[in-house]
Amino acid sequence: MFLIHLTCTSCGLRHEWKHLQNLCTACQKPLAATYDLEKIRCALTAERLTVRREKSLWRFREVLPLPANTEPVSLDEGGTPLLRARRFGKKHGIENLWIKDESQNPTQSFKARGMSVAVSMAKYLGATKLAVPSAGNAGGALAAYAARAGLEAHIFMPRDTPRANIVECRELGAHVTLIDGLITDCGPEIARRKVTEGWFEMSTLKEPYRLEGKKTLGYELAEQLDWQLPDAILYPTGGGTGLIGMWKAFDEMEALGWIGRKRPRMFSVQASGCAPIVRAFQNGETSAPEFPNAQTVASGLRVPKAIGDFLMLDILRKSKGGAVAVEDEEMIRTMCEVGSTEGLFAAPEGAACFVALRSLLSSHQIRGDERVVIFNTGSGIKYLDCYDKGTS
Ligand SMILES: Cc1ncc(COP(=O)(O)O)c(C=O)c1O
Ligand SMILES: [Zn+2]
Repeated sequence: MFLIHLTCTSCGLRHEWKHLQNLCTACQKPLAATYDLEKIRCALTAERLTVRREKSLWRFREVLPLPANTEPVSLDEGGTPLLRARRFGKKHGIENLWIKDESQNPTQSFKARGMSVAVSMAKYLGATKLAVPSAGNAGGALAAYAARAGLEAHIFMPRDTPRANIVECRELGAHVTLIDGLITDCGPEIARRKVTEGWFEMSTLKEPYRLEGKKTLGYELAEQLDWQLPDAILYPTGGGTGLIGMWKAFDEMEALGWIGRKRPRMFSVQASGCAPIVRAFQNGETSAPEFPNAQTVASGLRVPKAIGDFLMLDILRKSKGGAVAVEDEEMIRTMCEVGSTEGLFAAPEGAACFVALRSLLSSHQIRGDERVVIFNTGSGIKYLDCYDKGTS
């Protein structure tokens, strides 16, 4: 294993990886894994990835935590297809449009990536009871990986989380608590009880290894595009872990000599009813104040305050990208457009990126001759409630 320590993303303080950790002990900001990239550079080349490797994200084992002799907790996550979106692209005047289809992961969302790595490490480091606040899909993923690891899962979700997520967590054997409020009200409930209950908190970016799982989105994308990153990436942003993770992957791959200095312009897509990052980006702020009265059918985007806000805003600016807010009605309508042109029943979060693409094309922030990747982070099948509410 090439993990050497954890580094605070804000103050740079180093922390040991060998025991269970949440935030930086000095400044309470997220910790991120640091590897001996020089050693990895010798041990693994981009070409060697093609030789007898599994398809799952564990094919990137050298740039992931977990000692080599320990078996990961896996359901064969990652290795998702990068699909050309010819018909939708043609309709909107963009030829080189791609969809990274994360709905094909176990538990039907990209949350499986983070949880496979985080649960593997939590188990290795001795945790027995895992707790998470969830907007929906993260809960389902934790429930699945905890079950597979033989650990307890305690999941706190807003009462109005899509029913499929709640049923899924229960059927996977998790302890589910429904909270009257938002995801930001679930966290404090865990914080209040975790010491007496003996829970390890798995909240995104408050635990260092979900980020490592999500960063494999960046490694896979580069590999699938033959080590040429796209011009722009559209990412539906709640906590922002995938966005931050991909950026980390790009830096690591450059240090490994796998890619050059070019970076995609990163666009964060949020719902108009909960757009703290869009607002902060437009206001030139370096952190995002809590968004009041957060509301959207895209439950994964209903994150009014994210602990990694300062990291996301920095990436959006450094990459010369941006942030776009999208109306719920447009998302729902566009789920049908994506479905009927590309054959994918996208999650509203994924559909939001297609709406954002249309507006970025019309404002010339993205050109029709550029190569663009959209992340469909989940499956529409988990959101049937959107249709029952008559929003379609
Ligand atoms: C389908 C879906 N897309 C996007 C997100 C937001 O992900 P992130 O927290 O990485 O920003 C979530 C989070 O719950 C989600 O479930
Ligand atoms: Zn710190």
